[in-house]
Amino acid sequence: MEEDKLYKTIFKRRSIRNFDLAPLDKNTLIEIAEHIKTLIPLHKDIKTEFWILPPEVVKRRTMKKAPHYLAAFSQVKEGYLSNVGFLMQQMDLFFSAQGLGSCWQGIPRLKKEVLENSDLEFIILMPFGKAQEPLHRTDISQFKRKQLTEITDISGANEILEAARVAPSATNAQPWFFTGDKNLIHAYYKEPGRVKGLFTKKYPPIDVGISLYHLKVAAEHFGKKTEVLFDKNIPKDIKEEYTYVASLKLSN
Ligand SMILES: Cc1cc2nc3c(=O)[nH]c(=O)nc-3n(C[C@H](O)[C@H](O)[C@H](O)COP(=O)(O)O)c2cc1C
Repeated sequence: MEEDKLYKTIFKRRSIRNFDLAPLDKNTLIEIAEHIKTLIPLHKDIKTEFWILPPEVVKRRTMKKAPHYLAAFSQVKEGYLSNVGFLMQQMDLFFSAQGLGSCWQGIPRLKKEVLENSDLEFIILMPFGKAQEPLHRTDISQFKRKQLTEITDISGANEILEAARVAPSATNAQPWFFTGDKNLIHAYYKEPGRVKGLFTKKYPPIDVGISLYHLKVAAEHFGKKTEVLFDKNIPKDIKEEYTYVASLKLSN
C-alpha cells in the first residue's frame, strides 16, 4: 500500500462498531490474509500469529456482531503487548484505507475450542467488515484527543508527533508520553491508577505500540528513515510513573 495513503488514513480513521453482517467476498479475504504476512514487528524476536475468525467463535459480551474478526496471539516476552499494538495497528489502517471498518476490541473473548489451537497467548480482537456507519472522519476536530503539549516536550517535530496524538487507545485514555528530541523519540506510557489498572493493565503498552506505528508512518511520510530502538538504559530522567516502551530514531 502506498505510504501516502496510509499517512492520510491516520487523520481520518475512526473505530467502526456497526457492521454489515454479510461476509466479505473471497478475494477481499485473501487480500487481507496476504497483507497480514507483510506486517512489520516492533520486536523481531517475539512470535505472533494473526487469525481471521468467524463470529461464531467469539464471545462478544456487550459488543455488536461483526462478520469477521482478526485475533492476535503472541509469545509472552518483554515488549509483547506493544509489539501487538504496533502490528495490529497496521491492519487497522489497512482496513480503513481499503474502505473497510474495524475496531480494536478488548472486551470480547474467544471460545475455548479456539484458544486451545494456539500455543501462544490470546491478546486481543479486531472485528472488521463493511461499515454500517460513516467510515471516516472528515475533519481533524472530530478527534477527541489531548493537546500535543500534554503528550510531549519535544520541539521541532510537531508534524510527526501529531500522527501519534490522534492514534486510537483503549477507552481513549491516550496514556502515551514522548520525550527525547526530534531525531530520537522515546515513547512511554503512564501507569493506570491502581483501581483502573486492575481492569486495563494490559492496554497502555498496546496503546503506545499503536502510537509508535503512527509515528513511524508520519516520519517516513516526511522523508525520514526510521529505526526502532529498545534501550532500557536510555531515558532515566523521566517521572517515576512513566514506563519506557521503545524509541524511534529518525535520520535523513
Ligand atoms: C487496546 C484497545 C482496546 C479497545 N477496546 C475496545 C472495546 O472493547 N470496545 C470498544 O467499543 N472499543 C474499544 N476500543 C476502541 C477505543 O474506544 C477507541 O479507539 C477510542 O475511543 C478512540 O476512538 P477512535 O478509534 O474512533 O479514534 C479499544 C481501543 C484500543 C486501542
